Amino acid sequence: MSEQPAIEWHRVARTSEVEEDDPKAVRVGDHLIAIYNVGGTIYATADVCTHEFASLSEGFVEGDVIECPLHAGRFHIPSGKALSPPVTEDLGTYPVKLEGDDIYVGVPID
Ligand code: FES
Repeated sequence: MSEQPAIEWHRVARTSEVEEDDPKAVRVGDHLIAIYNVGGTIYATADVCTHEFASLSEGFVEGDVIECPLHAGRFHIPSGKALSPPVTEDLGTYPVKLEGDDIYVGVPID
């Protein structure tokens, strides 16, 4: 038996729509998700900062780090790890798979 939560894959964007340095916000049900292109690899994290309410997809990308547009807290995009104050709580991440040019994100089934 697997301990992994059940997920459902949703097509959210095409790779050509996600520029490096310009994350894309998408929504799947109640999940607000930011899609990133880091050196050609696609990642997905929660779009809402863990500090207060800010949309990370409107933040600033530096390599594999996203900086929150509100108070400049920073997260490691691939792992969601909180890197610098004022953020202390890690960001949720979502599994990503590609089929051709289509980006699918795995969202937990409620
Ligand atoms: S809301 Fe993101 S650092 Fe404050």
